[in-house]
Amino acid sequence: MVVVLGVESTAHTFGVGIVSDEPKILADARFSYVPERGGIHPREAADRFVRNASRVLREALDQAGLAVESVDAVAVALGPGMGPCLRVGATVARALASYYGKPLVPVNHAVAHVEIGRMLTGAADPLVVYISGGNTAIVAKHGSRYRVFGETLDVALGNFMDTLVRELGLAPPYVVSGVHALDRCAEGGRFIELPYVVKGQDTSYSGLLTAALRAYRSGARVEDVCFSAREIAYSSLVEVAERGLAQLGKTEVLLVGGVAASRHLVEKFEALAEYRGLKLHVVPPKYAVDNGVMIAWTGLLLFKHGVTVEPEKAAVRQRWRLDSVDVYW
Ligand code: FE2
Repeated sequence: MVVVLGVESTAHTFGVGIVSDEPKILADARFSYVPERGGIHPREAADRFVRNASRVLREALDQAGLAVESVDAVAVALGPGMGPCLRVGATVARALASYYGKPLVPVNHAVAHVEIGRMLTGAADPLVVYISGGNTAIVAKHGSRYRVFGETLDVALGNFMDTLVRELGLAPPYVVSGVHALDRCAEGGRFIELPYVVKGQDTSYSGLLTAALRAYRSGARVEDVCFSAREIAYSSLVEVAERGLAQLGKTEVLLVGGVAASRHLVEKFEALAEYRGLKLHVVPPKYAVDNGVMIAWTGLLLFKHGVTVEPEKAAVRQRWRLDSVDVYW
């Protein structure tokens, strides 16, 4: 049996997960940073990570009933993400690997979102819709890599929704995820004209955000603004996903990332799946958000294919794209 410990710290969550190749999740410990106001403040998040890291690590080892000595490798998310946050996880993982003489496995956070989704849902070769606070991408395996078949040209879908609900004053300032706040506000809303932008296979949300806030400030009803902004944002995503499916001939769709927790978005994809005769997979909400388990699991896949890095060369990569990572499975 191979056991891997994984460390996640790309944004607001410091997580440590431990998995075995059965596959089995042996531990899942997390600390989530909640900003007092506004969005994530990277240095503040990193500072909180530093203060909670050893407790989270201890909790994970206790859950698994293991000592660091008995894991086979240490995996770490080296990117993409926020520099100060990433460096905390990288420092913890490099120290563990060096001190205990364990192989260190570099994991791309975006690939890990896809792999935990595949592992938990059993999706074999899906078109992946990866939607979170920091990413919006239509992804599919082609050859030995995941390729991007459409992405946002500006802000990510989750970031768009978080900012919108915050600017509309709908959420208490400490709410990180705008998904549920927007769903609640959109109830009873009617459609108003807002810009729908798809360029080729790419979506765009910054113009929609500006127009939605302008409409609200000019007197539009808040539920109409929420309803219309959500409909347009989700519809543009479904449009590019559908075209990607047609181009690639995939028969499965997999939703991963924090926005996959939106019931309304899932319903839109359920309709698409029924219409096109596809199998729809949705990552469970607990693993839609950032966690250490997905890093441990992807690290285990990489480790089994001999991918390791020397601790002194394990630098963080804030803009590490998932289509630059070789996947051997
Ligand atoms: Fe993420």
